[in-house]
Amino acid sequence: MSAATAKLEFNGKTHELKVRSGTVGPDVIDIAALYKDTGAFTYDPGFTSTASCESEITYIDGDEGVLLHRGYPIDQLAEHSDFLEVCYLLLYGELPTKAQKDDFDYRVTRHTMVHEQMSRFFTGFRRDAHPMAVMCGVVGALSAFYHDSTDISDPHQRMVASIRLIAKMPTIAAMAYKYHIGQPFIYPKNELNFAANFLHMCFAVPCEEYKVNPVLARAMERIFILHADHEQNASTSTVRLAGSSGANPFACIAAGIACLWGPAHGGANEAALNMLSEIGTVDRIPEYIARAKDKDDPFRLMGFGHRVYKNYDPRAKIMQKTTHEVLGELGIKDDPTLDVAIELERIALTDDYFIAKKLYPNIDFYSGITLKALGFPTTMFTVLFAVARTVGWISQWKEMIEDPHQKIGRPRQLYTGPTVRDFVPIAKR
Ligand code: CMC
Repeated sequence: MSAATAKLEFNGKTHELKVRSGTVGPDVIDIAALYKDTGAFTYDPGFTSTASCESEITYIDGDEGVLLHRGYPIDQLAEHSDFLEVCYLLLYGELPTKAQKDDFDYRVTRHTMVHEQMSRFFTGFRRDAHPMAVMCGVVGALSAFYHDSTDISDPHQRMVASIRLIAKMPTIAAMAYKYHIGQPFIYPKNELNFAANFLHMCFAVPCEEYKVNPVLARAMERIFILHADHEQNASTSTVRLAGSSGANPFACIAAGIACLWGPAHGGANEAALNMLSEIGTVDRIPEYIARAKDKDDPFRLMGFGHRVYKNYDPRAKIMQKTTHEVLGELGIKDDPTLDVAIELERIALTDDYFIAKKLYPNIDFYSGITLKALGFPTTMFTVLFAVARTVGWISQWKEMIEDPHQKIGRPRQLYTGPTVRDFVPIAKR
C-alpha cells in the first residue's frame, strides 16, 4: 500500500485523494468518497481509466504483452499445465498438489452430466438458432435445476456451483452443437480428460467408435487454457455486475455469455474467420487494409487491436503455434485462409497506420483458423470461448462475493436529457 495522495482542485477547493498501489501495475486514485466530498462524479465511458474492483486473480501488462494468472505467465501454463489445473489455480489461488489435483479432477468429472430433463429444452429451439442463443437460455436455466447450489451466502454451495458450471458447460456446448447439426447427444465419457471428452461429445456418433486424436485434444486444451481468464473484460465485468445484486451464479454466467457473444468481444474469432474467407486471396488484402484505414468506412480488421494489449497479445503467439501444429497433424498444407492470415499479419505489422495505433493480432486472429481445422463451424467459436471463460467468470464472481467490501455495482451518469417539464395530455401533443 502506498501512502501517496493525489490532489484535485475543484470548485475552488483542494481535495486529497488516496492513491493505492497493487503488487504490480498502475496505481489507482481512490475516488470512492469523491461524490460525498465534492458533489461531482467522474466520467469514464467504456471504463478506460477505471479500476472497478480489487482482484488477485489475473494481471495483464498490455504494453509489454504480459498475461499472468495468479502470477504464472500464460505461456508457461499453456506449455506445462492442463486446463483443470488452470481452473484449480484460478479458483483457489495456488497450483494444486498431486492429491488436490486428483480430487479436483474427480469432483469436476463427476458433475459432467446434466439433468436428463434439460435435454428436452433443446427441442424448444429452432434447429438454425445460433448456438450462443441456445447457450444463453440453457445455462440460465441451470438455476432452475440445481437449487441446492444457488445460496450464495454458503461457501460450500458457491464451490459446488463453480464446479458444476466448469463441468457442465462443455456438455451443454456439445449438446447445442449436436442439436444444431441434427445428431444425437453424446454423453460425457469420464475416462477422458476435459478437452478430449469435449471433442468426443462433439464429434462422436453412437453408431461407431470415435478415437480422440491426442494432438487435437492437446490443441483444444491449449485453446481452453488461453481463454480461461482475462481480468475485468466486458463479460467478466458483466458477471460481476450481475452478481453484485446477489443473483445466483448460473444466472450471472448466463449474463456473461450474452455479453461475450458480441463481435467486439468473444464474437471476434467468428468475425475474423468470416473476414479471412471474404478476403479470399492474398491479392485482395490491400483493398481491405485500405478499408480498415478509411475513417468513413466502419470496417475493421477483425482479430486486430485490443483495449488493453498495445503490443502482441501473448496468447496470439501461442495460438499461432497451435494453429500450425493442428494443420500439420491434419495434413492441411494449402489452406487459403491461412495464407491470407499470414500475409495480412505481415502487412499489418509493417503498416504505419497499424504501428501508430498499436494494433497487433489478438488471440482471435488465429483461434478461428484452428477451430475450423478441428471441425467446428464458425457459429460454435464463441461457444468454445464461453466454455473456457466460465472458470474465469466464476472465479471472479467468487472473489467478489467473498470480498467484505463488496457492494452492488451502481454507476452514475452525466445527465443530458430534458429538465423537469409538465405532462401534456395525448390530445394536445
Ligand atoms: N482495424 C482498424 N482500425 C482499428 C481496429 C481494427 N481492428 N481496432 C482499432 N482501430 C482503430 C480505431 O479506428 C481507432 O482509430 P482512431 O483513433 O483514429 O479513431 C483506434 O484504432 C483505437 O480504437 P478504439 O475503438 O478506440 O479502441 P478500443 O480499445 O475501444 O477497441 C477493440 C478495442 C478490440 C474493440 C477494437 O480494436 C476492435 O474492434 N477490434 C476488432 C475486433 C476484435 O478483434 N476483437 C477481439 C478482442 S480480443 C478478444 C476479446 O477480448 O474478446
